[in-house]
Amino acid sequence: MTKNTELKKIVEEVGKDKIWRPLFDFENNALACGVGHDIDGIDPEFSGLDFTGKTVCDLGCNLGHFTFHAHKGCAKEVVGYDMEPKVIAGAKKLAALYNIEGVDFKVCNFAYEEPERTFDMGMLIDILGKVNIAKGHLIPILKGLEKRSKSEMLITFRPVYLVERHLKMSEDDFLKLYPQAKIENGFFSLLDFAKDLFAENWDMTYLSKELPDDEQYKRTMFFIRK
Ligand SMILES: C[S@@+](CC[C@H](N)C(=O)[O-])C[C@H]1O[C@@H](n2cnc3c(N)ncnc32)[C@H](O)[C@@H]1O
Repeated sequence: MTKNTELKKIVEEVGKDKIWRPLFDFENNALACGVGHDIDGIDPEFSGLDFTGKTVCDLGCNLGHFTFHAHKGCAKEVVGYDMEPKVIAGAKKLAALYNIEGVDFKVCNFAYEEPERTFDMGMLIDILGKVNIAKGHLIPILKGLEKRSKSEMLITFRPVYLVERHLKMSEDDFLKLYPQAKIENGFFSLLDFAKDLFAENWDMTYLSKELPDDEQYKRTMFFIRK
């Protein structure tokens, strides 16, 4: 089987609906267009990040787009975690096809399973969204990242949500899930919530450039341990 045929087989096995970022074969033909939002404001902002010599975990790695990105940036070792076994099987096969060493992938629900180890940098890219927040997973997800990150954390999320419109729940129900949250004029600031949650041990830098006023854009925050 050629390498391109093997790639096609990986896409079939995982399912295009589960592949978050565009995937190309070795001749640059598109194999999956990626179901992720293409204007989420993420990729260009990572160019300034220094992965050199670091151990990195990529939480919710999907097929490893950013796991491979950190590896290309000269990380010493990168481990991608995802709770979808099919996705992890696909990511492992991709790493083998690309002949990449120093990268590993593991099945794990990082929000609810205890860490097997820690890393210099933890990445949480495009995981926090309406569904996870409305289902009450916000704190377990953020804590799951913190528990695995020794020195740095990279997180992308939308800074502000309208509770009733975006999360489709009443303010009272939202406050039952997150009693420490503040709602002002119907808005919940996830940016302030994350900053407060980590305030004791982490300093935050807002990495995103000013973007057009589009509420769907995710922004990038970088936390460094005090
Ligand atoms: C929106 S995709 C983002 C993928 C990747 N971070 C990126 O930006 O290309 C979310 C991925 O995170 C995984 N995921 C979501 N919550 C998770 C959890 N608690 N534990 C492990 N994986 C999770 C999903 O299975 C999915 O593959």
